[in-house]
Amino acid sequence: MRRIILIFSLLTQLVWHVAIVAQNRENINFNNDWLFRLGDITDFEKTNYDDTSWRQIDIPHDWSIEGNYSEKNPSGTHGAFLPTGIACYRKHFEYSPKWDSKKVTVIFDAIYCNSTIYINGQKLGFHPNGYLPIRYTLNQYLKPGENVIAVKVDHSKTPSGRWYTGSGIYRAARLQITEPVHLDETSLFVTTKDNREVTVKYELTGVNDKEASAYSMIVRIYNQDNREVAKKRLTHKEITNETTIKLKNPNTWSAQTPYLYTCEIELLKGKEAIDLHQTKFGFRHIEVSSTKGLWINGQKEILKGVCLHQDGGPVGTAVPRDLWLYRLKLLKEMGCNAVRTAHNPFQTDFYEICDSIGLYVVDEIFDGWETPKAEYDYGLYFEENWQNDLETFIKRDRNHPSILFWSIGNEVKKATPETEKKLYDFIKQYDTTRLITQGRSYNGKSVDIIGFNGRGEYLNALVKYHEKYPEKILLGTEMTHNYQTRGFYRTKTLYRLRDFPAPWELERKQSFEDIKNRIYHVEDLSPTEIFPDDNLVYQSSYDNSIVRMGIRDYWKATKDLPYYIGGFRWTGIDYLGESFQWPARTANFGVIDLANLPTDSYYLYQSLWSDTPMVHILPHWTHKVKEGTEIPVVAYTNCAEAELFLNGKSLGKKKMTDDLQIVWNVPYQLGELKVVATDSKKQTISKKVQTAGLPYRINLRTSHNVLSEKHNDAIIVFAEVVDENNVPVPYADNWIEFSSTEHLELIGVENGDVLDLSNNKIKARKAFHGQCIAIYKPVKKGNNVKIKATSLGLIGKEININIRE
Ligand code: GAL
Repeated sequence: MRRIILIFSLLTQLVWHVAIVAQNRENINFNNDWLFRLGDITDFEKTNYDDTSWRQIDIPHDWSIEGNYSEKNPSGTHGAFLPTGIACYRKHFEYSPKWDSKKVTVIFDAIYCNSTIYINGQKLGFHPNGYLPIRYTLNQYLKPGENVIAVKVDHSKTPSGRWYTGSGIYRAARLQITEPVHLDETSLFVTTKDNREVTVKYELTGVNDKEASAYSMIVRIYNQDNREVAKKRLTHKEITNETTIKLKNPNTWSAQTPYLYTCEIELLKGKEAIDLHQTKFGFRHIEVSSTKGLWINGQKEILKGVCLHQDGGPVGTAVPRDLWLYRLKLLKEMGCNAVRTAHNPFQTDFYEICDSIGLYVVDEIFDGWETPKAEYDYGLYFEENWQNDLETFIKRDRNHPSILFWSIGNEVKKATPETEKKLYDFIKQYDTTRLITQGRSYNGKSVDIIGFNGRGEYLNALVKYHEKYPEKILLGTEMTHNYQTRGFYRTKTLYRLRDFPAPWELERKQSFEDIKNRIYHVEDLSPTEIFPDDNLVYQSSYDNSIVRMGIRDYWKATKDLPYYIGGFRWTGIDYLGESFQWPARTANFGVIDLANLPTDSYYLYQSLWSDTPMVHILPHWTHKVKEGTEIPVVAYTNCAEAELFLNGKSLGKKKMTDDLQIVWNVPYQLGELKVVATDSKKQTISKKVQTAGLPYRINLRTSHNVLSEKHNDAIIVFAEVVDENNVPVPYADNWIEFSSTEHLELIGVENGDVLDLSNNKIKARKAFHGQCIAIYKPVKKGNNVKIKATSLGLIGKEININIRE
């Protein structure tokens, strides 16, 4: 009975809160029914402009990814050769009489870039930054009946970044309705101390002195099960912009145990609740020292991190939340525990996912400062805008427990100690709880943590630096750094030409011998190349395509240096842009490719970073070589030993080597190759590869089976070409056509091939090394919604999914 009463009281509490939110603070979805047109359109902002012929779209919307890859597009290697330009957006919306006495604010999570926003023909402002929220109060311009908000996006001058940036209103927007007196949501800052004390900082807006005594506040803390665990009432005299609450033995937050609490502020005028706002937070205690490294909640941690760019491959920069969820979980399964937002703020739900699944974040705001690194990048606007943008950034993100450190820049061109200090001091006004770093800051004077990029990958670079500056804390902001093409193999080691020697070394006329002696050497796997292929754009998946230092040497160095706090590989997932030349639309830097498919290096990291017993074998076993040719077969495992079987016959049991891989040279013979590893509990785990016959049918799997219509959901449909016996065909390049009912909208197709320049929004894609994907977003609820994949000459496949409200 007591339990029933408790449940009832919890339910009523919840219902009551929902009612209050709906009444006094409303966040209205502002994403649907926008009108869009490419071009610089005169008078487009006017209320009575005739927009009847414009295209109807929903935001988030990135128009660049809708276009075709072309060498003529000025975005060039930086922007993946995709189109940019100028475009206009309009949205008509009805004024609600309920807003008469309220404050109405429009909030765009980000617009790329140089956006000018108008309401009913009146200009609200211009925003060059393409990665941060824009807010305007609308009241004075609104009128009864229909209102029109219009946005011009000027992305005509490119490259505006060193990577693919997308173009348009590519993140969500909302209308926020509050009482004139309300809590300023950007002011809310929840910090914890000694893992038992919560300090809540807040500001109220719109309060006038005469009425001040009418207000009171209630601060509540809820645990992860939504149970109230602390509550504090503040009288008007106690509303001092800060309050502290104690909690007994709260659960701590870490990447392993990401326990989240919710802090809620309720504002009352007399007895009436007039505002309610919540934020999630976590208790975590971070210690960093230049001798002992990084400690979180008393436990030693090494950052096993990856750098990421914000695009989602075939969907461009308009990335559904669920796509990030899928990708970040995949990284976490690899043993990754940290991500760096290279080199700009990401969408908010990215950080929410990191908070909830447990990933540490280095949150970075800038690539460069005053001096542009790409011809038309933010450097042109830096001086006028950095303060506003930095304030918006820190206030937006500072409650996320996942964020460990701030980063103020990356390989900044003409970096001066003055600007570094300016940015550093500015951040400290808004957050003193986090240390500050910068990508490549060996000469950093103010930053708390020295960030190492590429040059840290030279032989003993970290050790030498530490000897010289023992008091500095070292982080690999961009280490290590090599690249692979999924399913492509080369047995001879190949160093990235651009870096052997690197441009800066050539500039300094360093001798070739000197450079060679500083690079980690990776042995060839065979004296002559077994898989001749002259396409140097594709990179070998034997982990022998090297940019100065391989993963294995990196990890050996990382785990043995007590003062080194770990690092971030360049990169976790392939991203669009930053290719070296046409016709490549990117370089293969990712552990996971553009189609969200892991490369072999994913499993190498997993063998080093994860404790869950695993084994992986490479390469595949369908080769165009003569029988008897010796092929190096590699196993990655976190078990101590493994045995290889060719067509059932043992080729020997081997122990893990100092090279962190086990290699057998196997005379090629058609059939099955199987590796069996034995873990410390004497349990075995195995993986096999088989010689495939001709392409015969398509197999399908999905990222998940039940979608939600409402929550920025998306589903990835993975198609694989297999032979008659269900064996994946690694050379298959069949065109696969995807179709579905009106419940779903196709938002991207991809195969991970950096040289495939077909459009990402059409409904068909060639398989690359046997695989390709389609990504759909739900538009209508339905059960047993069909998705089909077909291909000429192959047996197609159909699957069903469910879409809930
Ligand atoms: C680094 C840079 C990254 C990326 C990478 C590619 O120097 O910081 O943004 O450009 O090189 O190798």
